[in-house]
Amino acid sequence: MNNFTYRNPVELVFGKGTIAELRRLVPQGDKVLFAYGGGSIKKNGVYDQVRAALEGREVLEFAGIEPNPRYETCMKAVDLCRKEGVGFLLAVGGGSVLDAVKFIAAAVPFQGEPWDILAKHARVEAALPLRSVLTLSATGSEMNGNSVISRDETREKLAFYSPLVYPKFSILDPETTFTLPPRQTANGVVDAFAHTMEQYMTYPADAPLQDRLAEAILSTLIEIGPKLLEHPHDYQLRANMMWTATMALNGIIGLGVPQDWATHGIGHELTALYGMDHGQTLAVVMPAVWRFKFADKKAKLAQYAERVWGVLGTEEEKARAAIEKTEEFFRLLGVKTRLAEYGAENAVEQVPPRLAQRGVVLGERRDIGPDQVREILRLCAA
Ligand code: NZQ
Ligand code: ZN
Repeated sequence: MNNFTYRNPVELVFGKGTIAELRRLVPQGDKVLFAYGGGSIKKNGVYDQVRAALEGREVLEFAGIEPNPRYETCMKAVDLCRKEGVGFLLAVGGGSVLDAVKFIAAAVPFQGEPWDILAKHARVEAALPLRSVLTLSATGSEMNGNSVISRDETREKLAFYSPLVYPKFSILDPETTFTLPPRQTANGVVDAFAHTMEQYMTYPADAPLQDRLAEAILSTLIEIGPKLLEHPHDYQLRANMMWTATMALNGIIGLGVPQDWATHGIGHELTALYGMDHGQTLAVVMPAVWRFKFADKKAKLAQYAERVWGVLGTEEEKARAAIEKTEEFFRLLGVKTRLAEYGAENAVEQVPPRLAQRGVVLGERRDIGPDQVREILRLCAA
């Protein structure tokens, strides 16, 4: 196992009716920017619950944060926060709203061009405090310090991490996710599954606890994923999904082990170029990364096949079955697994030069450069 340090400062408030806790948890006095997306919270009653809990506070609203949040939109909120002297931010929505609010929080006090936080990894020295109410189980953004922002002008989608942008608290009421459309529910299952795999599907690292925690998350997603699509209003299923997705990317399963993240790196390019949903890109790319890196990942693929899917056979047979089973699972959820199904075959030629320009290398061995990405994209083209 590798050395690690771990600190996660997020207070999680989980369960039915917990949005009302905002009243107790939100500090008095500070002006709050209440940020949300395209309006789903107005249709499902979450907006009303938040407004009721914030009654008597000085609240400014910022609506219209889009999926794959845009830098241009975030900067409008930054201007508003600076002008109005906002004290803290409250994100209410899915990963996109949370990520946007993290970036806004870092950008408000930032000296210089805030895009540098994403493009040049400029150090975040200060950030406004932020808090969240989550309405979509997928990203883990509610309990981590990551944020991913897109820029229209340059068609880029870039990420940053800072310990200063963990939410102070996150409210997770599973009932808020009852209204998710099937596509978002399925994307969420795939995303949490992929987060687990990015921290697991590498090479054996003598970390049996991390392995078994990851396998527990994968088994849970396989068990509840299809049921969620059939029973979107089942509280227990939604609650289990919410907690499982949080556990997939709050840092715990990745402690002391090698991590891959090639699928996410390539996936962000597909979203930036073709507008594919984040979950859709992962379902296409991940099986292809495994096929391309089959020799390096064979031992863990076989372990996963046996422990999670109950497959028996030689190491080779189990490892091959692991890839097939995973693809079948994504397709069972209704998420397609080929670029051609999204009309995005051009990625084979368009993505590698973009990565070359930024000097990107990916994978747990840092040996996936633009040429290898081209091969991976060929494997999932048609
Ligand atoms: O905008 P509204 O109207 O709220 O609608 C949203 C949006 O259209 C809708 N939605 C959210 N909650 C709903 C709901 N509809 C009905 N009922 C509800 N309860 O769902 C649509 C998608 O929302 P979005 O926030 O974009 O989805 P998700 O949570 O999957 O977030 C995706 C973003 O997170 C990034 C992705 O790259 C992408 O930009 N990620 C963030 C990570 C992190 N911070 O750690 C890690 C991930 O790997 C990922 O990269
Ligand atoms: Zn993801």
